Amino acid sequence: MKLVTTIGEMRDTARDLRSKRATIGLVPTMGFLHEGHLSLIRLAKQHADKVITSIFVNPTQFGPKEDFSRYPRDLKRDTQLAESSGNDFLFVPTTEDVYPSGYHTYVAVEELTTVLEGKSRPTHFRGVTTVVAKLLNVTMPHLAVFGQKDAQQVAVIRKMVQDLNIDVEIVVAPIVREPDGLAMSSRNVYLSPSERTESLVLYQSLQHARDLVLHGERRSSAVMEGMTNIICTAPSAAIDYISVADPETLREISILKEGSNSLVSLAVRVGTTRLIDNILLTIP
Ligand code: PAJ
Repeated sequence: MKLVTTIGEMRDTARDLRSKRATIGLVPTMGFLHEGHLSLIRLAKQHADKVITSIFVNPTQFGPKEDFSRYPRDLKRDTQLAESSGNDFLFVPTTEDVYPSGYHTYVAVEELTTVLEGKSRPTHFRGVTTVVAKLLNVTMPHLAVFGQKDAQQVAVIRKMVQDLNIDVEIVVAPIVREPDGLAMSSRNVYLSPSERTESLVLYQSLQHARDLVLHGERRSSAVMEGMTNIICTAPSAAIDYISVADPETLREISILKEGSNSLVSLAVRVGTTRLIDNILLTIP
């Protein structure tokens, strides 16, 4: 595996791969890699000859009161994990290279970014789409892999790619969970042992949503109420949102229709840590 630390070298490498007709898969990350990220690298490797994983804690997607400065970082460990998962190039640019002084250009997807995560984090997706657009321009991949864990991010990036006619295939990987059901996240390290136990209510509430729908419940208000009751059993948990929405448009659904897909998603603060999770349901 090769470490690439400048945009110039990354672009030259991508050009060289393209000239040799190698297909390129990109896996954008903010590092502190876990099994969720590694599953993306392995999936990219199944679809592409060469995999580029980027590690960049992107300042523009963090709000002023968010955890940018304390976001966990461990490049040495990340390097070992990426290499053992079959990654070919680890792209770790500096903030100055990505956002040099005088940087003034942003990519913003409207509408989709005003709901769910976008409501609590108004500048978040503008930062995500800007950095992902830049990463796509620099690495020139044939495909890019994203995790279903961040379902709204997937919808927003798909929309950006479609609206800006970017020539890349977006591949989505399923959510990887801890054995007890908690969705893996770099932010899980913030949880105290008791919060870690309480955080299980997120997945339990999603499973309950699935069970309710399987038993015939079609009112999303009833589904959300059932989820709320489960989350409220955890004393340190505070619900930011619970949503039942169309997975593409992210519009809220009030009555679940037969054969349709719906995205049940939630954001819950456990102590000071904000966790998100979701499940895709196909209504029988
Ligand atoms: P990050 O949170 O590091 O996640 C990188 C990728 O890993 C995202 O596509 C995310 O959905 C995926 N991922 C995280 N946890 C996962 C899990 N448990 N199972 C499956 N996939 C998982 O998302 C970002 O970084 C940034 O917003 C980024 C796209 C890199 C732009 O800065």
